[in-house]
Amino acid sequence: MKQRTAYIRSVGRFLPERKLTNSDLEKMVETSDDWIVTRTGIRERRILEPGLGCSHMAVPAAIECLERAGVSPEEVDLIIVGTVTPDMLFPSTACLVQDKIGAKNAWGFDLSAGCSGFLFSLSTASQLIESGKVNRALVIGSDVISTIIDYTDRSTCVIFGDGAGAVLLEACDEPGFGLLDFMLKIDGGGGEYLCVRGGGSRIPPSHESIDNREHYVTQDGRQVFKASVSGMSDVSVRILEKNGLTGKDITLFVPHQANKRIIDATAERAHIEEEKIVVNIDKYGNTVAASIPLALYEALVERDYDLKKGDYLLMSAFGAGFTWGSALMRWWGC
Ligand code: UT7
Repeated sequence: MKQRTAYIRSVGRFLPERKLTNSDLEKMVETSDDWIVTRTGIRERRILEPGLGCSHMAVPAAIECLERAGVSPEEVDLIIVGTVTPDMLFPSTACLVQDKIGAKNAWGFDLSAGCSGFLFSLSTASQLIESGKVNRALVIGSDVISTIIDYTDRSTCVIFGDGAGAVLLEACDEPGFGLLDFMLKIDGGGGEYLCVRGGGSRIPPSHESIDNREHYVTQDGRQVFKASVSGMSDVSVRILEKNGLTGKDITLFVPHQANKRIIDATAERAHIEEEKIVVNIDKYGNTVAASIPLALYEALVERDYDLKKGDYLLMSAFGAGFTWGSALMRWWGC
């Protein structure tokens, strides 16, 4: 058994004020509230005001997270920002956050893993804590996905929304608690089904690339849907089996919020009862790397979900890349 793990000490979030409802979208593209709710479970999403970037959401989420824990920014050793919509290509959003919150003693970086960005960041940070190199890490998922959505494309614009969530990870010295295990996967063969072709080194911004709408998200929804269900359920079932658990042992399941049908299918295959699943997709849509910390925040803070020491928390995500994974945590108190 590991002598030192990482545990979640605190959570924070930021949600833009502006709401984009299904009825707003009905006026923008050929869609209906009924179609969106039935096929996805989404009723509204948040949109960040123009001129602001990823760090403008990551910073308040990080500050709330630290304030809740009573930890000063100087005490943070590491900042990882999971995002596919950084403020700019470089410097990283982690550097911007470090500067804006005054985390003078931290290092850090951005991590790009689509909607799995938070889980990949959490797992990476946990390993640095386990190694003893880091004692305290801010793990943030923040995406202004609205900046790369084509609001004339009904197959993508109804799904996504903006937001940021943060957790503070700290070292846990009691064996058998904290982040016990994670299972992460990538399959670049699925890359073409969910991507932004332009804006990188292969297709730098040009008049032509703008005219071709290459800076927007394109998605083959059906392919992503099928891969999400099989990927998320596979790693959820396998991480439970590997740790001698079943879905019945899980107290709280926090899945990536991409589509209510994906969440339901994953939970069913992992034998996790409905009342244990955190679902807030109706209010925020798919917030990419922010979705798991936003759902965790909702459970712990807004719904006052009382996780007790020893309870099992399972998280699971799927995203562009393809990337996917699960993480299993045994609660150590917050
Ligand atoms: O986090 C990872 C990122 N993404 C995902 O996880 C998304 C995974 N995919 C999905 O959630 C679903 O595939 C969508 C919500 C994107 C689409 O739902 P679907 O049930 O798979 O619909 P579909 O793509 O199979 O399309 C069914 C029909 C089509 O019309 P026809 O060809 O049957 O006449 C679409 O053109 O629905 C049509 N359609 C729409 N109709 C009204 C597609 N989008 C819309 C829309 N409003 N917004």
